[in-house]
Amino acid sequence: MAGMTLNSIDIVDPDLFVQRGYPHEEWALLRREAPVYWYQRENIHPPFWAITKHADLLEVSRRPDLFNSVPPDRPLFVFKKNPDQPRSEEPVFHTLLTMNPPQHGAYRAVVNKRFTPHAIGKLREQIEEVTAAVLDEVVDRSECDFVTEVAARLPLAVISEMFGIPRQDWDRMFRLSNEMIAAEDEEFHRTESIKENVERARLDFFEYFSGLIADRQKTPRDDLSTALTHAQVNGQPMPLFEQLSYFALLIIAGNETTRNAISGGLYALMQHPEQWQRLRGDLGLIPTATEEILRWVSPVVQFTRIASRDTVLRGQQIHAGDFLALFYPSANRDEEVFAEPFRFDITRNPNPQLAFGIGEHYCLGANLARLELQIMFRQLMERLDYAEMTGPIQRMRSNFVGGIKHMPVRLRIRPRRAAA
Ligand code: HEM
Repeated sequence: MAGMTLNSIDIVDPDLFVQRGYPHEEWALLRREAPVYWYQRENIHPPFWAITKHADLLEVSRRPDLFNSVPPDRPLFVFKKNPDQPRSEEPVFHTLLTMNPPQHGAYRAVVNKRFTPHAIGKLREQIEEVTAAVLDEVVDRSECDFVTEVAARLPLAVISEMFGIPRQDWDRMFRLSNEMIAAEDEEFHRTESIKENVERARLDFFEYFSGLIADRQKTPRDDLSTALTHAQVNGQPMPLFEQLSYFALLIIAGNETTRNAISGGLYALMQHPEQWQRLRGDLGLIPTATEEILRWVSPVVQFTRIASRDTVLRGQQIHAGDFLALFYPSANRDEEVFAEPFRFDITRNPNPQLAFGIGEHYCLGANLARLELQIMFRQLMERLDYAEMTGPIQRMRSNFVGGIKHMPVRLRIRPRRAAA
């Protein structure tokens, strides 16, 4: 953008994300001119250091002692304050994302073994079946909303089944996840007040999870709900607030990210038909294509940290208590790490993309998300004869998770057997 300067750029306003998608040009300017940049503007909360380079994101993420997670009553992501719309100062959740070592490790151990490559590998057949069933639903259709009718269905089904949540409640989980993550998006409003929206969604979640806990106390099963119901941390039962928060974290994280990688991935393939043809012609490229989709789409925009003491990062003096925001999509376009970062290349290898973060808080669901993406894109390549947009995509009003809400496409999906 002509005339863009450090003082004038905006990388926080959620309207920007709706209108233009990710502010890649602004991030590129920051990487070039001020990679560790003190971002202080009216109404931006809190003022923060914008971290935009791959190396710095690595360094900050790998030093949880120096760059702490934010406590539960501080913002997980930086936002634009609306004077008419105060946000809650109360803790909404207390989760892995708001914990530091050693507490963080103790809590992560509660479900860690259910997300290892081995444990996730056992879900392969089930995920293949769910994916095929999702695609079956649109076989007879010539048009659909790819987000709500395809991309969202897979992660929702998978995480709900891992929790043992009955099918009739899946839509409720989806709705509440959206309400929590995009409280500023009017499609997910129940009332005019953002604070009240978040509070109602949270209470609804907690009420629902309390029911699951009561049920699994009586009749344990082999599912995530049971594991969390009976969870011990350092030999003690988990406190109720942390327990309910844990349910919410996994449901929200399971829903809000992978679907954006699926829809964003198909969108990228539609915009790069030569890459689509190449992938279709060589399904052996699915793993590298998946990594490239993750790099390209980077569904999570930012997470914050707080400096625990004075330190220097890339020559900048950071003070104890300063906020930092890590911009994952920017690190994933870093010219110093990726050759031609603005080229979508499904054969890119190596591809040290950071869409899942790195270090202490490296995404717990990374193995699951990767498997879902690989299976979905394999089946799409096998069964999707063509897809084209019939209208503009609609983006979520959020600067936290860069979601596509709606993506109207004309498409032809082959029936299952014909595809084989
Ligand atoms: C494409 C899909 C996904 C992306 C891009 C993604 C991205 C991320 C990122 C960037 C972080 C934070 C790293 C940090 O603060 O340093 C994270 C953490 C986390 N993710 Fe994911 N995620 C995805 C899918 C999932 C799924 C499917 C689940 C669960 C079922 C999940 C569960 C979590 C959890 C629990 C954490 C917190 C980990 C911790 O603090 O120790 N994610 N994810």
